[in-house]
Amino acid sequence: MSKPKLIVLTGAGISAESGLKTFRGNDGLWENYKIEDVASIDGWHKNPELVLEFYERRRQQAMQAKPNEAHLYLVDLEKDYEVQIITQNVDDLHERAGSSQVLHLHGSLMHYKSTNSSYRGIIQQPLKLGQLCPNGHQLRPDIVWFGEDVPLYPEALDLVRDCDVLLIIGTSLQVYPAAGLAYQAPSHSKTILVDPYADEIPLESQNTTYIIRKKATLAWKELKDLLV
Ligand code: OAD
Repeated sequence: MSKPKLIVLTGAGISAESGLKTFRGNDGLWENYKIEDVASIDGWHKNPELVLEFYERRRQQAMQAKPNEAHLYLVDLEKDYEVQIITQNVDDLHERAGSSQVLHLHGSLMHYKSTNSSYRGIIQQPLKLGQLCPNGHQLRPDIVWFGEDVPLYPEALDLVRDCDVLLIIGTSLQVYPAAGLAYQAPSHSKTILVDPYADEIPLESQNTTYIIRKKATLAWKELKDLLV
């Protein structure tokens, strides 16, 4: 018999206990930076050097961070479920924990792409202005910025629409289209939300939704009970 399909939609909260900052809330990244300066296509056009510095600092932080118990638990679930992670995170902690299927909706800190073609690669040294693809276009972080399309969204949507369980961990569900995935699971499925501040999340009431108001690393006992 095939395993049930478990989709895990993750956000910055799952990496918080690995020491990486979330975006919103007290001391979140957006408290100290303006989103439009460092995470929008307009910001890139205005001051690309600032944007490159911002993402290089975050790349360094992500490389120093280690996967936590929550990342590892998701790997363990592969024994009983066909697990597909859809993450908004740009760190690589799911991969380093050992998860086998990870879709990065908002791109990756570890990769670059050309500003004008499909040329892509792994960042080995900090990206600099003047570093060009073979066709002569500036390289930039392979991150989806505000004001840009989310190219993997249709694939993510198909996956969610075909799941048996949707597990949502550590996302405020404020950024669309990613947040819209929370409402796309089929009616036979179960949705479970893990977030210590779940009351602030605009999750429309669905009678199949279970909420665990705990930090991701502390939620596993309840989660195990809900998953049986
Ligand atoms: P947010 O910072 O908006 O939300 C983080 C969520 O994690 C909040 O709901 C917190 O309550 C929760 N949280 C905090 N600590 C937690 C823990 N230990 N365990 C579980 N949950 C915890 O981050 P995202 O929803 O991921 O996009 O943000 C979505 C997008 O907004 C990001 O991908 C990024 C950002 O702008 C781009 O830059 C394109």
